Amino acid sequence: ELTIRKAVFPVAGLGTRFLPATKAVPKELLPVVDRPLVQYAVDEALEAGIETMIFVTGRNKGAIEDHFDVAYELERIQADRGKPLDALKGTRLTPGNAIFVRQQEPRGLGHAVWCARDIIGDEPFAIILPDELLIGREKGCLAQMVAQYEKVGGNLVCALEVPMEETPSYGIIDPGARDGVLTEVKGLVEKPKLGTAPSNLMLPGRYILQPEVMGLLATQEAGAGGEVQLTDSMAKLIGKQPFHGVTFDGERFDCGSKLGFAQANFALACRDAAMGAELRGWAKALLG
Ligand code: UTP
Repeated sequence: ELTIRKAVFPVAGLGTRFLPATKAVPKELLPVVDRPLVQYAVDEALEAGIETMIFVTGRNKGAIEDHFDVAYELERIQADRGKPLDALKGTRLTPGNAIFVRQQEPRGLGHAVWCARDIIGDEPFAIILPDELLIGREKGCLAQMVAQYEKVGGNLVCALEVPMEETPSYGIIDPGARDGVLTEVKGLVEKPKLGTAPSNLMLPGRYILQPEVMGLLATQEAGAGGEVQLTDSMAKLIGKQPFHGVTFDGERFDCGSKLGFAQANFALACRDAAMGAELRGWAKALLG
C-alpha cells in the first residue's frame, strides 16, 4: 500500500549561523511573518496526509514541544474575549501524533534521522527539514512528492535546479532518464567540489524513504564535515530499490541562512493580504 503516514522533522541542529538569536530560541521557531519555520513544515506534512509528526530535538529545543501543545490559558482568554482561535490553527496536533525524540549530540542529519528508527519501524516515511521553506505553486512540496510516490513507490527526493556554481553547497543528483517531473536517480553526491557535480539538481530537504535506510544509517560513518550524512546512506539504496527525484514546482527559501530568511520574510510579507500593499509601497520608496 503506497501511503506515507509518518514524517520526521530533524530539529536538533545548533543553528550557529543565527547566533545570538538561536542561543535560547530554537532556529526552527524563528518566524517568517507570523508563523515559526517548523509550523510551515508541519502544515506541509498535514496537507500531504501525514498523521504522525516525529521531531528529533536536542538541548534547548523544549519550546518546540510547547508550540505544538495545547495553550490552555491562551485559548481560554481568547475565547472569553470572543476572539477567534484561527491564529492557532495547526499548532494543536492530534493527541499522541506529535512525538519527540532526542538526538543527544548534533552528529549530523543522518544521525538525527536514525534517532527516529524505533518510531518509524518498518514503514516508509517522509523527512522534512524545516529550515528549507518550500512554497509550492499549487500544492505543497510533500504533497507533490506523495502524488508521485503513489505512482512509483520506492525512494523519492525533492529536486531543484540551481546555478552550477552553487552545487558545492548541496547534495546533488546524478540523473538518469527523465519523465515529466520524475528523474531517475543514478547516484547522489554530498557537496561536490566545484566543477565536478554530475548535474545542477540539488536536494532541498524533502525525502520519502523506505525503512531500510535506517539499517544503513546504523553503520554509516561520518562523511563530509565530520557528520553522519543522510545522502551517503540514501546513495546505498540506489540500484536496490526504485529511486527518483521529483522536480519541485514552487519557490525555495533557504531559511538556514540569514539572506534566505530575510528574503522569505520580505516575499511572504509582500503577499500578505493585510500588509502586503503597504509594505511594497514602503519598499519602493525606501529603494528610491
Ligand atoms: P544545518 O546543516 O542547517 O545545521 O542542518 P544547523 O546546526 O541547524 O545550523 P548551522 O549550520 O549551525 O547554522 C540542517 C537540518 O538538520 C538538522 C537541523 O536542525 C536542520 O533542520 N540537524 C542537523 C539535526 O537535527 N541534527 C544534526 O546533528 C544536524
